[in-house]
Amino acid sequence: DASIALNADATPVADVPPRLFGSFVEHLGRCVYGGIYEPSHPTADENGFRQDVLDLVKELGVTCVRYPGGNFVSNYNWEDGIGPRENRPMRRDLAWHCTETNEMGIDDFYRWSQKAGTEIMLAVNMGTRGLKAALDELEYVNGAPGTAWADQRVANGIEEPMDIKMWCIGNEMDGPWQVGHMSPEEYAGAVDKVAHAMKLAESGLELVACGSSGAYMPTFGTWEKTVLTKAYENLDFVSCHAYYFDRGHKTRAAASMQDFLASSEDMTKFIATVSDAADQAREANNGTKDIALSFDEWGVWYSDKWNEQEDQWKAEAAQGLHHEPWPKSPHLLEDIYTAADAVVEGSLMITLLKHCDRVRSASRAQLVNVIAPIMAEEHGPAWRQTTFYPFAEAALHARGQAYAPAISSPTIHTEAYGDVPAIDAVVTWDEQARTGLLLAVNRDANTPHTLTIDLSGLPGLPGLGTLALGKAQLLHEDDPYRTNTAEAPEAVTPQPLDIAMNATGTCTATLPAISWISVEFH
Ligand code: AHR
Repeated sequence: DASIALNADATPVADVPPRLFGSFVEHLGRCVYGGIYEPSHPTADENGFRQDVLDLVKELGVTCVRYPGGNFVSNYNWEDGIGPRENRPMRRDLAWHCTETNEMGIDDFYRWSQKAGTEIMLAVNMGTRGLKAALDELEYVNGAPGTAWADQRVANGIEEPMDIKMWCIGNEMDGPWQVGHMSPEEYAGAVDKVAHAMKLAESGLELVACGSSGAYMPTFGTWEKTVLTKAYENLDFVSCHAYYFDRGHKTRAAASMQDFLASSEDMTKFIATVSDAADQAREANNGTKDIALSFDEWGVWYSDKWNEQEDQWKAEAAQGLHHEPWPKSPHLLEDIYTAADAVVEGSLMITLLKHCDRVRSASRAQLVNVIAPIMAEEHGPAWRQTTFYPFAEAALHARGQAYAPAISSPTIHTEAYGDVPAIDAVVTWDEQARTGLLLAVNRDANTPHTLTIDLSGLPGLPGLGTLALGKAQLLHEDDPYRTNTAEAPEAVTPQPLDIAMNATGTCTATLPAISWISVEFH
């Protein structure tokens, strides 16, 4: 009852940018300490990096990692994290009310990234700091030996410049919760100066301005327009952040589940609003370049749980019982994901791919323990959450060009977005390697749909002769609330999809209610 087709004249959206499969490591909870770094863990290497976590990071296919925050960065001194560990200071982290030991810093994270095979996207502090700290850090990480900060890096054991290209100039500076938050005009002036000076210091940098913390912010859209218009010449990207969760998860309300499954509607609108603001900024500057979108925080986050925790802390503080001492790497934001959460993340990934002409970078937030696809038990094993699978499939197999196929689908009714198609899908095709991937979701909370797929219009296909099916998978659980746990880490995994493809690239698949599929072909 649904179909997707690539017509012979289908034009690609764009080449799939490797950075679309980025992730995010913040000094928050047990993401760094007890996540990527746990020196007493049986798998820890000489740097204290957990090998079991590194193995899963590679299996996940992560390409680029945003570091070190998030809200954390707005009160962070990067210099605290370099040099001999025993000399590094303890600090209070105002964002998450924790003690930061600084056992990990930029040198350590660089070493970790080398092992993980990932690029770093580095964020600088625009809350308590700004221009000078950003320039010093740039010289420290990327400078050729011969000047003071670069020589300091060499003295700390890293000879070669780290060559970090992509820099986030602050984090969520519109958010009233952010240390040093600013008005749009204040931030526009500040980011313009920092970006300008960084580009004087080094060519080839790709600089990201903070966008809105979410579409719910009162200045969403106007913030982007103000910032990008002022700093257009010096910027390359604007940051986008969007988290989704089933708002009725506590009562398992049917309507909220249906809204949640359609979250990609919001992400699509989000991309359109920010692209429009960037285009207006380009026109106001008579410019030719497009500012790209860096969707550098996205995913499912049950943020209501965090808000409750914060409210509890505030209530304690009001009674003079502030949560002292400030804990070290406590269990924070350790959401355990359901099968439905994985379908939603699969759907959000489809949306990113369908808009990869404009979204040239994205970081699923976060990587380990904190709202993460990878969980790492203290002194115990690391395991995959449900959300691991749709990300890994796209990261490892979406190559070449992305195509938005023509979709005919029954609609579902949502309270948040009105009537929307049940089925969404994207196709990627690497014409040279002759490999392709189809990703599709059934966002219908109640009804299965049979999907007729026609890939016969793929470029170069007539010359190829035939198409053959590769691995095909289905992620679905009759109980959409089913999760993986430390005790049953493989309760929810993709299963083989029952599908057959004929030589011209047509096939039929049944997608149960709340399901995600992937079909590899060549
Ligand atoms: O990822 C968790 C937090 O969400 C980040 O620190 C912040 O940037 C966002 O509000």
